[in-house]
Amino acid sequence: MSDDLMHALVATKPGGPDTLQFTEVPVPAPARGEVRIRVERCGLNPLDVAARRGDAPWFVNTWPAILGIEFSGIVDQVGEDVDESWLGQSVTSTTTMGGNAAFAVAPVSGIYRSPEGIDADTAAVYRGACHTAFRILEMYGPPSGSGAWVLVHSAAGTIGPILTQLAKASGARVIGLTSTQEKSDWAAQFGADHLVVATGDDWVDPVRKILGDEGIALAVDGNGGKAAVRNLDVLAPFGTAVFIGASSGEQAPALAPRLLIPKALRVAGFSLPLVEALQGDTARVDALIVDRLRSGDLKMPIARRADFSDLPALHAAFEARELMGRTLIRME
Ligand SMILES: NC(=O)c1ccc[n+]([C@@H]2O[C@H](COP(=O)([O-])OP(=O)(O)OC[C@H]3O[C@@H](n4cnc5c(N)ncnc54)[C@H](OP(=O)(O)O)[C@@H]3O)[C@@H](O)[C@H]2O)c1
Repeated sequence: MSDDLMHALVATKPGGPDTLQFTEVPVPAPARGEVRIRVERCGLNPLDVAARRGDAPWFVNTWPAILGIEFSGIVDQVGEDVDESWLGQSVTSTTTMGGNAAFAVAPVSGIYRSPEGIDADTAAVYRGACHTAFRILEMYGPPSGSGAWVLVHSAAGTIGPILTQLAKASGARVIGLTSTQEKSDWAAQFGADHLVVATGDDWVDPVRKILGDEGIALAVDGNGGKAAVRNLDVLAPFGTAVFIGASSGEQAPALAPRLLIPKALRVAGFSLPLVEALQGDTARVDALIVDRLRSGDLKMPIARRADFSDLPALHAAFEARELMGRTLIRME
């Protein structure tokens, strides 16, 4: 391959996994305010899947496109106005697509030095999921030590296991939901008090049975599907349902405001980029998370490590709802 070309997985048009093709494309050059990263690792993030389908036009709206929103590697070139001290640094990028290639460019404002003392696989993919889970609990979680109930949808996803661990560490009790027994068996390692296997709204009755006279203080739902409104049925007085995503791909029914009144419930959305932009204390949160990862109190749920050549098949496995945790791709 000529020095000007690199190996990349290209999404040729919006659609299914069959739109992904390995090909050689020009190595990108960093523009003003950007760095170029020799990619070592990337995650398969649900945003990659949404972007591939054409459902995330704020990230990808021209085709062909290189996906890969979370990746890590070594800075090998800096653009104009970027400090040369970045050269040779090991960094993580979570704000720009492009990680499904040998090289990617990213704005220097969207990269972070990989923390020391945690393994390279974890360093590549912890940021988005760990910061999301941590912030949700900080903003909406029950008081520390209260023993209140937290309901974690998709407890065998990526954010689910992190939420489970952080909620348990804060003294909450956790009920986790998964769609299969295999996922439930895998999720058990993260310490939920109860795991319920269910799809659709089958979880409501089993969760009620576990709760008895009690209710859920915080429900975190990244599926946003037809059963989303059922979270309100299991909330305790003053309970909060936080919606963070739409992994189900389903059209959710409208939520009637009157449903909130009898138990004085709260419904919230959550957006990590918005929270980080407005609160501006990302370094504080990161230090707390990295401490827990270093000590082993928090484990990054990487369920599978795979080669770059496996990525199209992994997109198909994601579509079939077969994956658990984060899937980590090693580029070399
Ligand atoms: N708002 C924010 O700031 C923010 C930040 C990060 C992520 N998110 C969102 O939060 C959600 C969870 O993120 P994550 O990184 O934990 O995702 P993930 O690791 O990909 O897990 C997603 C889970 O979704 C469930 N799911 C339900 N229907 C599915 C379908 N049709 N296809 C595939 N999976 C399906 C699966 O669990 P079961 O089969 O057990 O249900 C899967 O484990 C995503 O929607 C993501 O986009 C939001």
